[in-house]
Amino acid sequence: MKPDLIKHLAGEPLGRFPVWAMRQAGRYLPSYRAIRAKHSFWEMVSLPEVAAEVSLTPVAELPVDAVIFFSDILTLPYGLGVPIEMREGVGPVCTSPLRSAAAFAPFADFEPTRHTPYVPQALRQIKGRIPQSMALLGFAGAPWTVSCYLAGGKAGKKFEGLQTWAHQDPQELREALTLLAGATVRYLRAQIEAGVDAVQVFDTWLCEMPKAFFDKVYQPILVQMFEELRKEKVPVIYFSRHAHHLLDRIVELPIDVLSADELLPLGDIDKRAKGRLSLQGNLDPLLLFCDEGTVRRETRALVQEARGLSRPAILNLGHGILPGTPVANVRAFFEEARQLWV
Ligand code: CP3
Repeated sequence: MKPDLIKHLAGEPLGRFPVWAMRQAGRYLPSYRAIRAKHSFWEMVSLPEVAAEVSLTPVAELPVDAVIFFSDILTLPYGLGVPIEMREGVGPVCTSPLRSAAAFAPFADFEPTRHTPYVPQALRQIKGRIPQSMALLGFAGAPWTVSCYLAGGKAGKKFEGLQTWAHQDPQELREALTLLAGATVRYLRAQIEAGVDAVQVFDTWLCEMPKAFFDKVYQPILVQMFEELRKEKVPVIYFSRHAHHLLDRIVELPIDVLSADELLPLGDIDKRAKGRLSLQGNLDPLLLFCDEGTVRRETRALVQEARGLSRPAILNLGHGILPGTPVANVRAFFEEARQLWV
């Protein structure tokens, strides 16, 4: 039996929109913080029982249609031995930045079963613990966004290391990103073998990419990566953030679902996509800091927007749930999102 979210994407009527939230297993949840108090971040990622338990924390409290497994976009390089520290209040920091194609060479040898065995192990455990109606989502970072960190950058800052490299030697960066894209395909294939129902590729920092670089270098790498993934016959979701200068190109990518940030109404993106894709999104995570009435009102407006789209939509936020978000508001979002719409 297929999970509700997958049936819905295929056009089988569910009677409502499926919903999940990026970072639904995160610090806003007391149950997450309790486990986090006992383990370092990378311990949580690399102990399959713990990763599975954390992934399931939202299931106990919220009516989610999907579980995204707990890990990070930096897990793939971490598994290969790239030194990445997860710093409190900062995020991932690569302490020995990779800034040449030679430094990316190890990605050619990436084998998921050898370097990140805990990922398929955690996925199998989660799959065995959720109902068949609930989707299990795999994920990876997109080559550009992962490289933003690998080249020495930090979240919320400019990614000078990677951006100067893109100007200096785009051909060499193409080589590096291509190696990482190949490893990413193998990583996601292993997740699919372990039972995920769909995969999401996160390109959070695509907003920093000049259009000329996208057209000349990145677009062909993404196309090849997505074409490889689509051979696996599970829906492919692509999250790009604040990259509206690239939107006309993004909607032409061989993907099934575009996960949209909070800035453009879904209807506007749908028009630009000309009915090619399903959309996922896109309530502003900051809305969840307003009062509950506002959360419910804006979620109903989002449902109304989703009803007018040319393909079946998945409801979500425009970015991850922020630490400090009131759990009651997250619950209000899920409840309103699941109201009947037919
Ligand atoms: O969504 C989920 O619930 C699944 C788990 C998940 C995490 N990171 C857990 C995490 C997923 C899908 C990610 C993806 C990720 N990681 C992205 C892409 C999506 C996005 O949010 O933009 C990016 C850019 C990263 C890199 C990253 N990891 C940053 C910037 C940070 C620090 C920011 C923060 O929220 O602290 C992390 C750490 C991280 N990854 C945490 C979690 C729950 C917090 C770590 C902690 O407990 O200290």
